[in-house]
Amino acid sequence: MRKKVTVVGAGNVGANCALRIADKELADVVLVDVVDGVPQGKGLDLLESGPIQGYDVSITGANDYEPTANSDIVVVTAGFPRKPGMSRDDLLMANYEVVKTATEQAVKYSPNAILILVTNPLDAMCWTAYQVSKFSKNRVIGMAGVLDTARFRTFISAELGVSVENVTAVVMGGHGDTMVPIVRLSNVSGIPLTELMDQATIDRLVQRTRDGGAEIVKYLKTGSAYYAPSAATVEMVESILKDKKKVLPCAALLEGEYGIHGLFAGVPVKLGANGIEKIYQIQLNAGEKAQLDKSAAAVQELVNVIQSKMNA
Ligand code: NAI
Ligand code: 2OP
Repeated sequence: MRKKVTVVGAGNVGANCALRIADKELADVVLVDVVDGVPQGKGLDLLESGPIQGYDVSITGANDYEPTANSDIVVVTAGFPRKPGMSRDDLLMANYEVVKTATEQAVKYSPNAILILVTNPLDAMCWTAYQVSKFSKNRVIGMAGVLDTARFRTFISAELGVSVENVTAVVMGGHGDTMVPIVRLSNVSGIPLTELMDQATIDRLVQRTRDGGAEIVKYLKTGSAYYAPSAATVEMVESILKDKKKVLPCAALLEGEYGIHGLFAGVPVKLGANGIEKIYQIQLNAGEKAQLDKSAAAVQELVNVIQSKMNA
């Protein structure tokens, strides 16, 4: 039986997710967006690429959720970018409303789906989807670590002039300025990074990774990254649909792991047919743990804002 993936938000990330899913022939795709015509138009355009690219998947667009029924995975990319005059909290609450509605509608039609959140602020939006969906925690997953790790790997490979395929990196924590690249566990074909670069170079690459999203925004001016984010999302989709059991850094609900309770944060997980099948708890040193705690505190602040407005 063919698999089905719904992508909510037919903007830059969403449309590129649909394109990559089709190119890999992973599943039929339904694009959903609030803007009339956009998901339909992009869906048809993608479908008409099939004869050239050689894929047979169905790609459709809609402004409602009925066509999404019985999706195996729902990817949520819907949301607003920050606009002039908008505070971080305004953006947080605007995207909270979007993710809340998208989750309610998606789970109504696909009660057995796995949710992959992309909308920012990522870790707080995962928390929102988890609360609204009432899904088990293995079925609510956030995309950020695969992207942040890919950026770190890119910068390491460019610095050393080696294949990206040989570079392994670990990035944990929330998706934001406080993310935690774990240098100690990053290596090139098993050779620790610390034996390949001096500390000043490592620090520069770590900072560039933390600023990776902002670096792209600075170039684009009117939007944020979407090629690498869609590639990262579809790596997660593929691991789930094919039950590959890849070990990837994803935002997961932590209930005591790493001393964090009731929050989503980026940690290494095993992704298979059941979503998050295992959370790996690696031994962190005191410095790494302090950075992870700081990152979790930043996520907690956003969740507190949502909770206080929910209770108001
Ligand atoms: P975009 O502006 O190109 O697309 C967003 C789409 O969402 C638009 O087409 C809009 O019409 C739609 N939308 C708004 N409200 C909706 C609703 N209630 N229901 C359905 N669709 C709705 O933005 P882009 O570049 O695709 O980014 C999407 C989100 O993903 C943003 O929040 C962005 O910050 C986030 N992002 C997260 C990353 C991560 O690592 N987690 C990486 C890249 C982007
Ligand atoms: C990024 O890291 C905007 O979160 C997005 O590119």
